[in-house]
Amino acid sequence: MTRVFSGIKPTGHLTLGNYLGAVRRWAAVDQYARDALFCVVDLHALTVEHDPARVRRLTRQAATLLLAAGLEPERCTLFVQSHVDEHARLSYLLECVATDGEARRMIQYKEKAAREREGGRSVRLSLLTYPVLMAADILAHGADEVPVGEDQQQHVELTRALATRFNQRYGHVFTVPVATRPGVAARVMDLQDPRSKMGKSGGAGAGVVHLLDEPEVVRRKVMRAVTDSGTEVVHDPEGRPGVSNLLEILAACGTAEPADPVALAGAYGSYGALKRDTADAVVEALRPVRERHREWAADPGGVDEVLRRGAERARAVARPTVDAAYRAVGLLPAV
Ligand code: TRP
Repeated sequence: MTRVFSGIKPTGHLTLGNYLGAVRRWAAVDQYARDALFCVVDLHALTVEHDPARVRRLTRQAATLLLAAGLEPERCTLFVQSHVDEHARLSYLLECVATDGEARRMIQYKEKAAREREGGRSVRLSLLTYPVLMAADILAHGADEVPVGEDQQQHVELTRALATRFNQRYGHVFTVPVATRPGVAARVMDLQDPRSKMGKSGGAGAGVVHLLDEPEVVRRKVMRAVTDSGTEVVHDPEGRPGVSNLLEILAACGTAEPADPVALAGAYGSYGALKRDTADAVVEALRPVRERHREWAADPGGVDEVLRRGAERARAVARPTVDAAYRAVGLLPAV
């Protein structure tokens, strides 16, 4: 069976963007049709200045929210990256396959390193090696497919290059994965700044809908979304990013298979009506998440148990591959 692997960083509260863009599909499709592993990638949260207590809290919260979003422990493997040593163990070997130039060419590294320097902070070495650790996440588990957003495509390309190079030099050990773009999944933009992605770390939050926002809060955020000058409801992401974003969200919320935002536009004569319907649709889409979250949040021991079993399974998957990689590069097996 095709194996998929994806990861989510515990660096903020999960948003409607994470849900409609990725997580909902993991729950609705991938866990049924694939051998699926989903990982809260906590080691990746340490590449810029961090608060230890916050990382710990957000890691547990991300796992709880993924369960609330519909991942079923019997159908997929949900685990925390740092619980499975194989990730860090393989990352080092891949650092011996990757080049310094390759790592420095990563767009995300360049952007984030610049941001750190501008803020007067030093750039952690782990920010540079981050994509190599990500490659280790993917290759350790022999993933065939990696569903990721556009901003992660370059990292998956690097993963493919490292796997291919390793296999050529040392013998076939790794599956060479492909990035899959979650087909019709929505690209949800910030409601206050519809030209940038609705991100976990996005601004003060007025434009970001969090998965556990109360219905009134969701409504208020959607009703106050920035629209564009003009009054006509048309789908034109370039010229009318605000209205187009609402149409995308409405289309994505409607059903498991998103409707067509272009066709939806024709049904609306005013921004007000579009906002009201979008607000209702988002509240409805998030209702089951809120309900399941209530159950899982009341049972932290249950979440721990899911993560314990997940890590056990993940270790069993990754161990033989990482051991094989250690042998292949010439390291003497321990007896
Ligand atoms: N780098 C990804 C992000 O920032 C998270 C991630 C880490 C990931 N390891 C992964 C995604 C492996 C897919 C597969 O979103």
